[in-house]
Amino acid sequence: MRSTDLLNIAKKFGDPVYVYDSEKIISQFNRLTNAFKSVKNLKLNYAAKALSNLSILRLMNSLGSGLDTVSIQEVKLGLLAGFKPEDIIFTPNGVSLEEIEEAAALGVRINIDNLSILEQFGSKHADIPVCIRINPHVMAGGNSNISVGHIDSKFGISIHQIPHLLRIVELTGMNINGIHMHTGSDILDIDVFLYASEILFETAKHFKSLEFIDFGSGFKVPYKEGDIQTNIEELGQKLSGRFNEFCKEYGRELTLAFEPGKFLVSEAGYFLAKVNVVKQTTSTVFASVDSGFNHLIRPMLYGASHQIVNISNPKGRERYYSVVGYICETDTFGNNRRISEISEGDILCFHNAGAYCFTMASNYNSRFRPPEVLWHNGKAILIRERETFDDLIRNQVDAKELFEPKKAKEAVK
Ligand SMILES: Cc1ncc(COP(=O)(O)O)c(C=O)c1O
Repeated sequence: MRSTDLLNIAKKFGDPVYVYDSEKIISQFNRLTNAFKSVKNLKLNYAAKALSNLSILRLMNSLGSGLDTVSIQEVKLGLLAGFKPEDIIFTPNGVSLEEIEEAAALGVRINIDNLSILEQFGSKHADIPVCIRINPHVMAGGNSNISVGHIDSKFGISIHQIPHLLRIVELTGMNINGIHMHTGSDILDIDVFLYASEILFETAKHFKSLEFIDFGSGFKVPYKEGDIQTNIEELGQKLSGRFNEFCKEYGRELTLAFEPGKFLVSEAGYFLAKVNVVKQTTSTVFASVDSGFNHLIRPMLYGASHQIVNISNPKGRERYYSVVGYICETDTFGNNRRISEISEGDILCFHNAGAYCFTMASNYNSRFRPPEVLWHNGKAILIRERETFDDLIRNQVDAKELFEPKKAKEAVK
């Protein structure tokens, strides 16, 4: 997207504001599909948690994507956005049996990641096929908080528990239709994928009526020019070959599934915020924007580095700034960034703001969550309004009858 288009959006819809470029989402979807073109049955299930605006879900549905969901609410959003139940997979962690049953009653695919629920679900609903999330015990992911396939992780059923798993399947008579793994986000090394895939293939051999193998996601996207990223084309070539070989061995054409979030939407997103104050201290020049980690928490949550560009003054002299938010705690978007000279009132653009940005936004400090705008075919379309004061108090029950303000006289005593 051009900076001028972004500036016009900030002018029209106010700031801060999230903007998503549909063309980038479509090109990423096509890139991933193309990388695996030699696989007969490929299914991309977009990970709704990354960005769950209904219009984005509708866009994904229109591309032929399925949907990966982690809560019953995401399942319902998916259905509302027009996904067929069979195109939605429910992959929760640590949720109740009741929530899984509710999803199953809606007809979506079920993915179970612990033996306790597997046994309970299988005993009651042996007729409903389920997928199993395996923990292959590999250490992958860009950060310990987003590495989820290692031995200490709470996710998945350990490969060392396969004998117990098989006993449950046999005794309940349940049908396993898929095998799944997700080892973490921001995986740099495709050998990690290939290594973990071999573990999935080995596991798959235990189940005779599989329909699909789901390799999760975790593809690393670039956060700035020249940044390292997962080599999707190389992964496509190597994994497709191995998958096709495995299908021959298995004796049936299976579906190869992925559930990408970041890969599809990260780079399509821009977050625009206005500089309220430029503050020179003895050691630093701060640029304080009209936002904070209530809107974009990734830098504070796990040290994510979003490129920050001054789109109001793109050709200015570059200087060092610490870009900070207005939250009443340390609230840093980026330290010592070289940014084109900033004046108060300038609009800063945060890149890679499509994945895990708006979906992690909150009302902390009683601030409104920002609007979301879709840039589609050269037009800016509002897909979520900015919150208002009414939204902030909507669900509050004001127990005002319990508390009388102090009377003036009593207050004096
Ligand atoms: C089970 C599962 N699948 C898919 C994803 C999406 O990962 P990414 O955004 O790295 O593509 C996640 C992310 O946390 C996940 O937990």
